[in-house]
Amino acid sequence: PSRRTAAGSGRADGPRFKTRGPLQSAVDGELLVDRPALRRALRLAQQPSVTQYIAILSPRQTGKTTLLLRLMELLQPVATCVFIDLSVLRAQDARACYRFVAFQLVSEFRAAVGSAVRLPEVPPIESSVDFLEFLRELAEAVPMPRIILLLDEVGALTPEASDSFFNTVRTVFTQGRGLNSHLAKYLFIFSGAVDLYALTFGTNSPLNVCEKIYLNDFDVEDVTTIVEQFTHLGVTVPAEAPRAIHALTGGHPYLTMRLCALLEEAGHKALTRQAIEAAAEQMLVEDDNIHHVIHELERRPIERRRLRAILLEERQVPFSRNDPVLASLEMIGAIRPTQPCQLRNRLYARALRRYFRAHAENTGTPPAVMPAEVEQLEDPDALYGRLLALRHAAMDARGAYRPGREWEAFAAALFATVPAFSVYPDLHADTGQLDVALTINRDAPGGTLWAMYQPLILVEQCHLEDGTPERTIARLATKAAEHRARLLFVLATGGGPEA
Ligand SMILES: Nc1ncnc2c1ncn2[C@@H]1O[C@H](COP(=O)(O)OP(=O)(O)OP(=O)(O)O)[C@@H](O)[C@H]1O
Ligand SMILES: [Mg+2]
Repeated sequence: PSRRTAAGSGRADGPRFKTRGPLQSAVDGELLVDRPALRRALRLAQQPSVTQYIAILSPRQTGKTTLLLRLMELLQPVATCVFIDLSVLRAQDARACYRFVAFQLVSEFRAAVGSAVRLPEVPPIESSVDFLEFLRELAEAVPMPRIILLLDEVGALTPEASDSFFNTVRTVFTQGRGLNSHLAKYLFIFSGAVDLYALTFGTNSPLNVCEKIYLNDFDVEDVTTIVEQFTHLGVTVPAEAPRAIHALTGGHPYLTMRLCALLEEAGHKALTRQAIEAAAEQMLVEDDNIHHVIHELERRPIERRRLRAILLEERQVPFSRNDPVLASLEMIGAIRPTQPCQLRNRLYARALRRYFRAHAENTGTPPAVMPAEVEQLEDPDALYGRLLALRHAAMDARGAYRPGREWEAFAAALFATVPAFSVYPDLHADTGQLDVALTINRDAPGGTLWAMYQPLILVEQCHLEDGTPERTIARLATKAAEHRARLLFVLATGGGPEA
């Protein structure tokens, strides 16, 4: 099936409105709404010295990744930026997280400085102390005055990995404030929702050194920019249509885009009130995002009761982020931070009204909309979408892997999804070459199987039309022998009849 992925390129053939994955300015320029939060983050990131880290706090599908990618694009000329999606590390321990981040940093810097600068050799990182030492040496070795790490999907790590990893990041911050510390070069920018909130709020939280940025929904003008895209499709846009759409979605980025996508799919000649209503009704029946909000509430009875009071009993509740239940409702995406609290948008209000009516609260826990096993998987589609996007970025026009940073990022992310592997930067000081090497954690799930390939597994790329198969195999075998690798993974592309 020709399902479009996050990597889907070119607007010409596919649908105009894009509802999955982050938007990219190069291909989605016309749809991309400029957000005030972007300017605020830019300003903070460009201050002469790093006096705080930055946390982008916003519920699901409200444009966090889009914002981080845009921020990176704008900051790249003045700083070295490394974007790391932590969701591939869902099954990993803290040590694997340190190694993965170190790998991405080395890969990025090697591409940026070439062989002109000698990067520190990295022994496999075992602990928080090793990781700090690595960061210190790297910052000292490179000439760049600022190194920006953009960490997306902070909530993906396990509680143990998260604890260890973010406490170490906190130490980077604290030590960076000391005199003459090279760690002062680092600026961390995080994005996430409920979990990031817990990491940044309160005196004992490791990331309470962050300036918090909350993403606001689009205003009517922003929604108009998006809705006007219909004129390129030959669809009449009545003057009141953008306002009508905004009234339903409240300017929620994904909901707005989805409503437009459904209207596009339906193939209307004009965006009439009835057409918009019908699309909204369809979303109430089957939209993932709405479904997700309800699901989050099902897991949280206290939040659910409070929301019920706000919605059905019309209780006037003053908004405060110091109230943990309201803060959680805001991060789930159910309410907007107004005085008094309001439902985030009319679509949610309608969906929840129906939900509360269907499940009278006094009957105990309502039946889950999703069985527990499904919940465990936490959106595998989204993860595969991200991996596909990385894969796409690693290929050239003829569909062959290009050696270099993009391929390294893809390989690292792909193998990081295996709990027993940790990828570390195997950098050879003499050749300046970086290899993707996997060490094996015997104690992780599947560890006893993989352990037979210790000390390490090597990952290589090749295009099957480059040279004869014999020569390719000989080259790879030599490489594996040099590393004492007991297993070699080859990510191959292409291949004609001779391959
Ligand atoms: N700046 C923007 N302009 C227009 N639409 C946007 C913008 N940002 C996000 N969107 C819409 O929201 C969708 C989700 O965006 P994005 O993936 O950046 O959000 P997210 O918060 O990172 O989501 P997730 O929680 O799934 O990681 C996009 O596919 C797009 O439809
Ligand atoms: Mg995202």
